[in-house]
Amino acid sequence: MKVLVIGSGGREHALVWKLSQSPLVKKIYAAPGNPGTALHAENVIIPAEDIAGLKAFALRERIDLTIVGPELPLTLGITDAFRASGLRVFGPTKAAAELEASKVFSKEVMFRHNIPTAFYKKFDEPGAALGYIETHNPPFVVKADGLAAGKGVIICQTKKEASKAITLIMKEKAFGAAGKRVVIEEFLRGEEASFLAITDGKTVLPLAPAQDHKAIYDNDKGPNTGGMGAYSPAPVITPALEREIMDSIMAPTVKAMEAEGRPYSGVLYAGVMICGGRPKVLEFNCRFGDPETQPILMRLEDDLFDVLMSAVEGKLSGRTLKWKDRPSVCVVMSARGYPGDYLKGSEIKGLDEAAKMPEVMVFHAGTSMKEGKVVTSGGRVLGVTALGADINEAIDNAYRAVNTISWEGAYFRRDIGKKALKQESGI
Ligand code: AMP
Ligand code: GLY
Repeated sequence: MKVLVIGSGGREHALVWKLSQSPLVKKIYAAPGNPGTALHAENVIIPAEDIAGLKAFALRERIDLTIVGPELPLTLGITDAFRASGLRVFGPTKAAAELEASKVFSKEVMFRHNIPTAFYKKFDEPGAALGYIETHNPPFVVKADGLAAGKGVIICQTKKEASKAITLIMKEKAFGAAGKRVVIEEFLRGEEASFLAITDGKTVLPLAPAQDHKAIYDNDKGPNTGGMGAYSPAPVITPALEREIMDSIMAPTVKAMEAEGRPYSGVLYAGVMICGGRPKVLEFNCRFGDPETQPILMRLEDDLFDVLMSAVEGKLSGRTLKWKDRPSVCVVMSARGYPGDYLKGSEIKGLDEAAKMPEVMVFHAGTSMKEGKVVTSGGRVLGVTALGADINEAIDNAYRAVNTISWEGAYFRRDIGKKALKQESGI
């Protein structure tokens, strides 16, 4: 079978790496891919948003299955375009991907179908939003309705901060059209987890739970990023909570989307907050999480191609997944300055040495080739991911590999996985 993976991050390198282990897969292409995907696939220089170009390529190469990494092509309707041409594609349609592309839509679906989430109000003009702030008590969470590269959510401890956030989003249009509407949400306190599932529109097959580290600095300080590290499993998600999340969130959401006339297939990723032992949805994403996919796929025993193809063909019923008992930890190495401005083009050293370490995979994200050398080309540069007998060992293995890799201006958090240790010991 011939497979096309769309995207160029650590998530896509992990997908390509795992797919390359399938005896069913003869050839993998990555568009546009990165130097990491090039180790297992042929990179083709077509941007992830070029739907027409990608479709022409898939038709010409007779691709059997296309797997879409990032949200943008999904929200632009790549699945609809591919299906219309008889191509098999893993990912939701444009109408279904609204669950991620519009916070207003996603909150409305949750309220219509009794899926637990924070209380909210939506506003389409700044005066009303500012008026709401004046008459209610902080903290508030102010969210731009549309996609804003992970930056459109502002947590406000005071009324002043909330007014500033509304002005930034709605008046100064910091996120462009994504900020035409805002959602103001109740602030939820608790422990956050990433719960991903694969669905064919009927059956919902959970992946191993994971936890992300969104903030740039240790101890969850500083601005949010796309994610600075992750681990799986997530001790906060006990087997009982996993059942509750499946029964109260994942299965009802897939059912709800069908009832809404937007049947959902692909990955359904719920960011959940565990508040007083009960899960509530913070947001839905319509794709694999990054970096979560890196530690999750390190633990998957099954043939990923077979699972994703079954989802596309509507044959997930009765299927279960097997996971390694060994936990995994991913430490993201980024360019100093990220999520703000950062330097590009530094040569990365130590990749060969890290690649030789047992139980370690160095997934590429923001890298490119320059004169035969791997150089930095993005904010999140590498996802250094390792397995271990327990979380402690996985953390040690990941940081041992991190410490062999260097470039000018490399930055990483030093506390990835510590939250899991705290939970395991009940602190
Ligand atoms: P979202 O893109 O909606 O997941 O928001 C990004 C991050 O903001 C989440 O991962 C949470 O850490 C935080 N967040 C979002 N909504 C809330 C909320 N209602 N209460 C507390 N934190 C939130
Ligand atoms: N790591 C968060 C995300 O993929 O959205």
